Amino acid sequence: PPPELDASVVEQWRASGGQLVELLGLVSALGGVGAVRLGPRPTVLVTGAQAVQHVLARHPDRYVKRSHRARMLVGDGVLSASGEPWRRQRRLLQAQFTGTGIRRYEQRIAEAARRTSAHWAECARTGRETDVGEDLRFFALDTIWRSLTGHPLDAATHRELAAIEAVVAALPTTPTAPAAGVPAAQAAVESALAADLARIDAVAGHAIAAARRGDAGPDGPGLLHVLLDLATSRPEYTDRLIRDELVTLLVAGHETTAKTLAWLYLLLDRHPRWTDWAMAAGAEGSPARRDAVQALVSETLRLYPPAWLLPRHAVEDDVLDGFRIEAGTDVFVSPYLTHRDPGSWPDPDRFDPERFTVPGRRPGQLGAYLPFGLGARACLGLQFAVREMTVVLEQLLPAFTPAFRSTPSAAVFGFIVRPDGPTPAVIRARR
Ligand code: HEM
Repeated sequence: PPPELDASVVEQWRASGGQLVELLGLVSALGGVGAVRLGPRPTVLVTGAQAVQHVLARHPDRYVKRSHRARMLVGDGVLSASGEPWRRQRRLLQAQFTGTGIRRYEQRIAEAARRTSAHWAECARTGRETDVGEDLRFFALDTIWRSLTGHPLDAATHRELAAIEAVVAALPTTPTAPAAGVPAAQAAVESALAADLARIDAVAGHAIAAARRGDAGPDGPGLLHVLLDLATSRPEYTDRLIRDELVTLLVAGHETTAKTLAWLYLLLDRHPRWTDWAMAAGAEGSPARRDAVQALVSETLRLYPPAWLLPRHAVEDDVLDGFRIEAGTDVFVSPYLTHRDPGSWPDPDRFDPERFTVPGRRPGQLGAYLPFGLGARACLGLQFAVREMTVVLEQLLPAFTPAFRSTPSAAVFGFIVRPDGPTPAVIRARR
């Protein structure tokens, strides 16, 4: 079996009330494959690049995805489905998310970016304070909403969909941990959660009804219309599954990009020279500038991969890096810990975007860098996400610098890793 973290260390961690990531950090120090007893059986943590590749890319049939946590919100959508239904759903959506597929949403991404840029221009002119994280969340939600429905995000929908952030924040960190909240407050948490889920369902219901009526919105038909068209000839696409797929794309399609952009601005605030570095890399619109901006994103995703913990479940006995893994074992892959392995990434805590521009600096092994996961279940929206983040940053970075009034000092490792607190700032024009 893999080396196991001493029970006394687990006790100390429990007593200290620390976050799971701290405990898992101690497990990863045991090696690329380690174990820790969180319940009656050991949970195996896989952080070594080769072992990560083995679990996610080579043998997804032996290590199946665990989606208990997300199912509450996204039902049987492609993120949480498994087996043959997942294969069918993934195949159907895949074409929409290739380079050609997302080109259709290019205009919408640009519109959403212009809107955020206009808001920051207004803030810069008037000196009005704004919340950087909130603005970037609005951008990410506006982008996916337009792409799905053909409508720009309106204030009421934005307000209702704030429920998504609340539900995601309440999702348990691991498949086995209880949802956030102390037991006495559990009932209140659950009823708030039910109310939030009802708000999300109502928005999804309206959007689907409108699309069915042929309302394509000012931007033209969106992904939701495509999905409804495809579904007409496929009986498995019940109303419920269409709702689940829509909510899946809304949730997976904006919380992750929103948090990445927020982390990027917080990192640039701490390391301002990298903004100048990216701007000096090339003229506006040049490939060199684009590469540099993408390197800022890649390095942010290395330090703060939003999906920091990917739970799997071993369904058959296996040998992993020479260690025996029994069927029935819970297995965690952690992009966050893999990305901070000093063996792959020298001085791993340092923000250094040149890791992604200077040839030879980046580890060659596939499993060493996986913000979007790996293998068959890797992120469906990778190209979409990279595109939208690049487009908005190419507009915002040369034009504005947020002067934060305060910045969160810690990270919360929930379902998604997020900054612990608001990000109020005054926006300064750069030129
Ligand atoms: C899956 C990360 C943006 C849709 C995943 C997974 C990761 C990930 C790590 C795999 C989870 C696992 O293996 O357990 C990210 C990051 C993003 C991002 C870091 C942005 C910075 C998006 C966007 C969309 C999207 C924009 C949609 C428009 C999905 C879907 C899945 C997924 C549908 C499930 C795929 C499947 O199970 O077949 N994402 N994602 N993601 N992502 Fe993303």
